[in-house]
Amino acid sequence: MENIFYKQLLENNKEWVQSKLDLDPDFFNKLAHGQQPPVLWIGCADSRVPANEIIGAQPGEVFVHRNIANMVIHSDMNMLSVLDYAVNALKVKHVIVCGHYGCGGIAAAMGNQHIGIIDNWIRHIKDVYRFHNKELDAIENQKKRFNRFVELNVVEQVFDLAKTSIVQNAWENKQPLHIHGWVYGIDSGLIKDLNVNFKSNDELDEVYQLKF
Ligand code: CO
Repeated sequence: MENIFYKQLLENNKEWVQSKLDLDPDFFNKLAHGQQPPVLWIGCADSRVPANEIIGAQPGEVFVHRNIANMVIHSDMNMLSVLDYAVNALKVKHVIVCGHYGCGGIAAAMGNQHIGIIDNWIRHIKDVYRFHNKELDAIENQKKRFNRFVELNVVEQVFDLAKTSIVQNAWENKQPLHIHGWVYGIDSGLIKDLNVNFKSNDELDEVYQLKF
């Protein structure tokens, strides 16, 4: 059964190529010349949140980084490399952190179960809970508390983006760069914009503001 599914993926690929060529015989030739995506997407690795598909973006339009619970961890060399390349080489205009309701990473952070090495990744999400524990603990309904935690985690990751030397340096150089926080509803397909739009580091606590 699994073997059939695996083979089907390759068949799907052939059909997809043909469907693209039917619409535009130059589709892949154009992409081969390079990329200039206007957007960097930082999303969850969850299989139900495919970046391009849910925003109707074509190949070449979105630079994508995904990890468990869409985290922006400033010592994560993978994330930093993607961010640096997107901002400084590709000159993206927007960075979107997109979380999603029902996120397993956030659920794990609300609990105490030991899972494995991932516990250490989840720890960063627990920090977000601690920053907002008054607001979260006051929400009695567990689902509502879970949903709010998802949102607060996205907001915190947007702040963490703004704190990076990469983003602050871009703003210092007057590079147009907007950063946003979104939450995707797995049960609705709809995205909610949390309106945490950042355009400069003035909005950060002073201790994080870098002087160049
Ligand atoms: Co998730």
